[in-house]
Amino acid sequence: MEYKLSPSLLSADFANLEKDIKVCEKNNVPYLHVDVMDGMFVPNISIGVPVVKSLRKATNLVLDVHLMIVKPERYVEAFAKAGADIINIHYESTDDCIPVLEKIRELGKSPAVTIKPKTSYKEVLHLAKYVDMFLVMSVEPGFGGQSFIEQTLENVKGLAKYREESGLNFDIEIDGGINLENVEKVVEAGANVIVAGSAIFGNDDIEERIQKFNSILASH
Ligand code: DX5
Ligand code: ZN
Repeated sequence: MEYKLSPSLLSADFANLEKDIKVCEKNNVPYLHVDVMDGMFVPNISIGVPVVKSLRKATNLVLDVHLMIVKPERYVEAFAKAGADIINIHYESTDDCIPVLEKIRELGKSPAVTIKPKTSYKEVLHLAKYVDMFLVMSVEPGFGGQSFIEQTLENVKGLAKYREESGLNFDIEIDGGINLENVEKVVEAGANVIVAGSAIFGNDDIEERIQKFNSILASH
């Protein structure tokens, strides 16, 4: 299993994203997690297409875009054109995920489905053949810096079991409340793509924090 760190820019310095991104590049971080919020699907507004376009110019890191927006089918093409690599859509945000996932694939991008803490992994198993990754939310989406919801490990474990039984090869990403104390536990449960926002950015020792995450993930 390949483990990947996906630092969430939501907690980074929006006036100087390049500086935070350079620290990620220097420390071999593979992904950057980009949280897009519309103030409807979640009670917060963050960033959109123009910022993804600028990020694409600034870095070659994989842009792991997490769309927390109503009816993401309206915008997947725009985010693909802006330079997103992975496009995560919420299961709860649209009537039928399948055509949206197919469209992401047709656009040459990597499709992923995200579930909120109260959604069971069982509801999305039928989508496994359309995705490269499932994203399990371990907090209610909308804000960084919240506490990890223990119960969501059941979704990680259920997906990991299904991954093994089905022989399918999807990644399992986890997002929300992950820090250096609990990352081990989520990896043990089966997650292999780890989002961390406030546990990395907005601190004066960003580099040390990334290195600590890297060494925990490398030991697995
Ligand atoms: C929340 C976002 C997260 C957020 C995580 O809705 O999806 O990616 O940045 O922040 P932390 O790691 O601080 O919980
Ligand atoms: Zn996110």
